[in-house]
Amino acid sequence: MRFFAVAMLLIVAAVAAPVAQSRGVLTPHTESVLRGIKAVDKGQLAVSEEDGRFLRVLVATRGAKSVLEIGTYLGHSLLIMLAANPKLRVTTIDLDKTYAGPAVEVLKRHFPKAQIDFRHGHSLNVLPQITEAYDLFHIDGTHEPHQVAKEWKALLARRSSDLVKVVIDDVDADGIWTVVDQIKGGGRVVEEEVPNCRWRNAYYAMQIT
Ligand SMILES: C[S@@+](CC[C@H](N)C(=O)[O-])C[C@H]1O[C@@H](n2cnc3c(N)ncnc32)[C@H](O)[C@@H]1O
Repeated sequence: MRFFAVAMLLIVAAVAAPVAQSRGVLTPHTESVLRGIKAVDKGQLAVSEEDGRFLRVLVATRGAKSVLEIGTYLGHSLLIMLAANPKLRVTTIDLDKTYAGPAVEVLKRHFPKAQIDFRHGHSLNVLPQITEAYDLFHIDGTHEPHQVAKEWKALLARRSSDLVKVVIDDVDADGIWTVVDQIKGGGRVVEEEVPNCRWRNAYYAMQIT
């Protein structure tokens, strides 16, 4: 079943035409790859349409040149961020490579100007091995509060400046708002955006002191 799902994703991506790389606008080709991902996403783990738009707008408008993401899954959020900035440098981590591995390979082919680095493993094991710095963090892995708190500590060490930008997914999951409050307490919140939709994510730009 898993093999079938990944094969479907690869076929959808393979038959689609090359991506026209416009900034902040989903092309028909990107939409078609997105539909392929949604078709195999029976667990509905990919970010929602609203969240996807939010992420895309963020990357496009905040000028993020690099992103560190926890939770690759089928590459939906990755696709959206790449559609916003086809030259993005992005490291994306997942402990399950069944879908993430093939999805990243497909996206590498369609976004040749991007630098996409997939790291297979548990976020808390992988993050300490990463040495680069990033403009934006996307936290979309386990959604367990105690783990998100630990991930945040590790992510902070990888910030490209003291103006830290982060998208935290599924903020309405049990206990996550408490972690968000802890995160916000670690600096001065410069920007806060929370879309009004189901399974929403939240964006913060914070000055770390
Ligand atoms: C909600 S999905 C990510 C969806 C993806 N960002 C998207 O929009 O398509 C969560 C993913 O996080 C992964 N995950 C869960 N806990 C993790 C951990 N501790 N380290 C790395 N990946 C993890 C799961 O395997 C799953 O693929």
